[in-house]
Amino acid sequence: MKTSSFTKRSLITFVSVFALVSVLMLLSSYRVAGRKNATSEADTLKGLKDFYKGYFPIGVAVAPNSFEGAQAELIKKHFNSLTAENVMKPGPIHPEEKRYFWDDADKIVNFAQANGMKVRGHTLCWHSQTGAWMFKDAAGNQVSKEVALARLKDHITQVVSRYKGKVYGWDVLNEAIADDRDSTKIFRESPWYKICGEEYFAKVFQWAHEADPNAVLFYNDYNTENPVKRDKIYNVLKKLLKEGVPIHGVGLQGHWNVDNPSEQNLRASIDKFSSLGLKIQITELDVSIYSSRTDTVNIGFTPSREQKQIDFYKMIFKVFREKKDLITGVTFWNVSDRRSWLDRGNKKVYPLLFDENLKPKKAYWEVVKF
Ligand code: G3I
Repeated sequence: MKTSSFTKRSLITFVSVFALVSVLMLLSSYRVAGRKNATSEADTLKGLKDFYKGYFPIGVAVAPNSFEGAQAELIKKHFNSLTAENVMKPGPIHPEEKRYFWDDADKIVNFAQANGMKVRGHTLCWHSQTGAWMFKDAAGNQVSKEVALARLKDHITQVVSRYKGKVYGWDVLNEAIADDRDSTKIFRESPWYKICGEEYFAKVFQWAHEADPNAVLFYNDYNTENPVKRDKIYNVLKKLLKEGVPIHGVGLQGHWNVDNPSEQNLRASIDKFSSLGLKIQITELDVSIYSSRTDTVNIGFTPSREQKQIDFYKMIFKVFREKKDLITGVTFWNVSDRRSWLDRGNKKVYPLLFDENLKPKKAYWEVVKF
């Protein structure tokens, strides 16, 4: 059958128009993609705390010497909450029975107040970084339960009272639940537990509440996403809450790595602890590029490790944003990859959102792009 010239011209016109429209759509999609991925001038002026203004405060663990030079500017730009990495712990702040050392903790509180930041107190009772004097009498023998509890009460009362109205919340008790995979081993065999028994757990919260009734009181621990440990913590807190013990929140420390925890276990822990009516905070966030602390090969910050870290940070912050009504704070443990408590000799762990030159890493842009 002969095709008329009209039909031929119409066909050519249709194909030409279709091709032109396709090219234009392709160009447009590239331009949109480019704009979406491009970092706007406004984005570079904002800090983490600004991007998360409608969600929760973004904190960072600091030392008294953190507030020098460029690092001070980074802290002021990105964070609106501070935690003392070490200097508010029992040992550094109360080195002898009759001597407190306030200067370093005061520096952090003063910097926070001068810059409109909140302060999380860390920590009132722990098995580590606690003066040995707390458990010994003048002859070097172990003290009685009564003496140990009296000393602990005095410590908590003095420290919380000093920072009343300046420290909004405390990690009252840190890591008191056994890390053991044996579900029958509930409490860590710390000197506090060995000398005082289970009752010290409730007392430390009662004493902190008496010293500052407005302070938000947290139980703080790590591996809180492990189902066995999660259930131990849940059961202990549920019993204490039933007894009227003033516990207001759970600190999920968040010392995680590119392979752990799973999104499912993270969600399960946030949901389980919040089902007790407790506030949730991520209190010590860092994401090691190594799957386990014993990962001895010093792989370094390779592109594949970086991508795993980017994917992990993207996942956890998606979960945090979705659960913003349950989460009242996310605090990073250390400021940048320049120094992490996880670094061991020449094996750096690169766990944070800012690199060794204090510049945002690719993971940072994934955390703020939502
Ligand atoms: O202050 C002394 C200094 O005088 C001495 O010269 C030096 C010698 O090594 O030690 C200094 O103390 C160190 C202290 O940090 C302050 O820098 C201790 O050795 C060191 O063990 C201690 O490490 C801290 C660790 O807790 C102690 O367990 C880390 O910086 C700190 O990031 C880490 O933080 C804990 C949280 O509080 C609770 N959750 C786990 C987290 C990681 O362990």
